[in-house]
Amino acid sequence: MAFPPGFLDEIRIRVSLPDVIGRKVRLIKKGREYSGLCPFHNEKSPSFTVNDEKGFFHCFGCGAHGDVIGYVMQSQNLGFLEAVEQLAGEAGLEVPRASPQERERVFKQKTLVEVMEAAAGFFQAQLDGQAGAAARAYLDQRGLDRAAIERFRLGYAPGFSGGQGLLKQFLLREFPEDMLIEAGLVKKPDDGRDSFDYFRDRVMFPILDRAGRVIAFGGRVMGDGKPKYLNSPDTPLFHKGRVLYGLSWARAGVAKGAQLVVTEGYMDVIALHRAGFEGAVAPLGTALTEEQLEELWKLTPEPTLCFDGDAAGQRAASRGLDRALPLLKAGRSLKFAVLPAGEDPDSLIGRQGNLAMQAVLDGAKPLAEVLFAQELAARPIDTPERRADLTHRLNARAFAIADEGLKREYQYFFKNKMYEQGRPQRANTRQKTVKDRNGRFKPQVPEVVSGARLTLGTQAVERRRQELLVAMVLARPDLLDDHVEEFAHMVLTAPDLDKLRREILNVHAANSGLDAATLQHHLTNHGFVRDVERLLGQQVLAHTQFALPADRETTRLGWLQALTLWHSHLDRAQELEAAVRRFEIEPTEASWARITALQEQAEIERTEQAEFDGATAGWVSPGRH
Ligand code: UTP
Ligand code: MN
Repeated sequence: MAFPPGFLDEIRIRVSLPDVIGRKVRLIKKGREYSGLCPFHNEKSPSFTVNDEKGFFHCFGCGAHGDVIGYVMQSQNLGFLEAVEQLAGEAGLEVPRASPQERERVFKQKTLVEVMEAAAGFFQAQLDGQAGAAARAYLDQRGLDRAAIERFRLGYAPGFSGGQGLLKQFLLREFPEDMLIEAGLVKKPDDGRDSFDYFRDRVMFPILDRAGRVIAFGGRVMGDGKPKYLNSPDTPLFHKGRVLYGLSWARAGVAKGAQLVVTEGYMDVIALHRAGFEGAVAPLGTALTEEQLEELWKLTPEPTLCFDGDAAGQRAASRGLDRALPLLKAGRSLKFAVLPAGEDPDSLIGRQGNLAMQAVLDGAKPLAEVLFAQELAARPIDTPERRADLTHRLNARAFAIADEGLKREYQYFFKNKMYEQGRPQRANTRQKTVKDRNGRFKPQVPEVVSGARLTLGTQAVERRRQELLVAMVLARPDLLDDHVEEFAHMVLTAPDLDKLRREILNVHAANSGLDAATLQHHLTNHGFVRDVERLLGQQVLAHTQFALPADRETTRLGWLQALTLWHSHLDRAQELEAAVRRFEIEPTEASWARITALQEQAEIERTEQAEFDGATAGWVSPGRH
């Protein structure tokens, strides 16, 4: 059966091919295309690709090929009509029924896409005509030249003819009134008065879908009227929370390597694109929705949110962050760039130029950093209770992340940050050290601190403990077969060791059955030659000989014990710091007792550590310090 022109196209616009296929096949985005294992034949490595832009899938293995309708037909073994019906249902479209007269009628029927395209043309023509003089002057005064007006298809909705300019002309052109109403171009009052144009005397910004078709408009008043921007109502084509202004342009820009930047307004998107920032988009005056975030992540793993530096802009950024948190996964996050207070990208580029804008974008911070900074700034952490409260709040934020692995990464990240946060304060208190000459017990912190430091050991000792943990894995990468999680989440305070740890994880992830020679070979070839030498000694490198027990289980248990000792050392250090700070504020017997108890606990652990060190001495060549 023949469908009216544009009907099948409308299905293809409304239903996203990667979404439909993604329900069955795990698709990985590569540039403009997605790839995955072909659902139509059995294969081990992916030769199946989906091109969202063109709306086609293709398998290089078995030759399967088609659009979204073809996909549904082939994957569910449906006929053409059945597939169209199913997809139309998903798209919220009614399938035209088939008596000959009916068919004739719908065949002539214009689609919403056609109406919207016609309206865009109408507004453009109005801007060029007599009625558009004031709008032209307005755009000129805002710095938009002819080229920009054409590129962004700006227009003007007239206010003449009693506000029925578009209605009258479109009725003449045989667009039914119902359809104009459905398209959100015309409004029919409930009280029986005549219908009138939805947009009157406004500068018009067409809003395009991801394929570049007009699906809605934003209209700006030229003076101070309210609302400043009027957006199309939701229609079958347009759902405000699903659309991003500028997405079709940004798709092309990002494909060419542009950074995907989310800003706040129409004018910002336009200013950014004109200045060469071709990855700019904006939501339509609301906070980012989940659907918009998903659209963004289809284009790039880490879009940048660039909101105003004032309170309102930062609230918007913060809402975006809250919305994103539960949706984060490995390799899927956000960055945040902060504009100077009182500027939006449009005004910043206008006043200070592209370089100033580039600097703002270059300063974008990862989500985890922003989250930590937010919570840190929210309340003071000058008492142990307040520090504990910060830890508690950070944990609560991390718990909003649904992805288990990432949630743990955040927890460790925050733990590390808290630890760093404690460090400078410890250095400060140490500077306050005074000798107690009277031999009298003075409830002063410095002695306590120096005592605590003695018990907890020096930095060199801390370093050696961490080195042992990494060195064992270097020598026995099969430890990771059982304990990759522990290794991935262990806290290392030495940045060089932490970097090495990450590289080992990468190598391990890329090589199954990784052995020591392969691992060390890779590391020495990737800039870690000195680290490996330092950890294992030249000897070991040359002979791949190592003093670890031959028995794998003994090695494994030894490594776990070293890890446990190290983490309890870190915990104790943190607790002791907190206790010392509490004592500073409240030098009572109780708070002193807490310190003593912790020191005793630390002493027990130190003995355990010494026993462990004795038992494992010679396992790894000690590093030089
Ligand atoms: P802004 O007021 O920051 O807009 O609102 P802007 O783009 O900087 O506007 P100009 O420079 O004064 O022309 C940001 C966005 O919020 C939505 C629009 O999408 C706007 O671009 N908005 C704003 C509305 O939908 N309605 C309004 O009344 C105001
Ligand atoms: Mn603005």
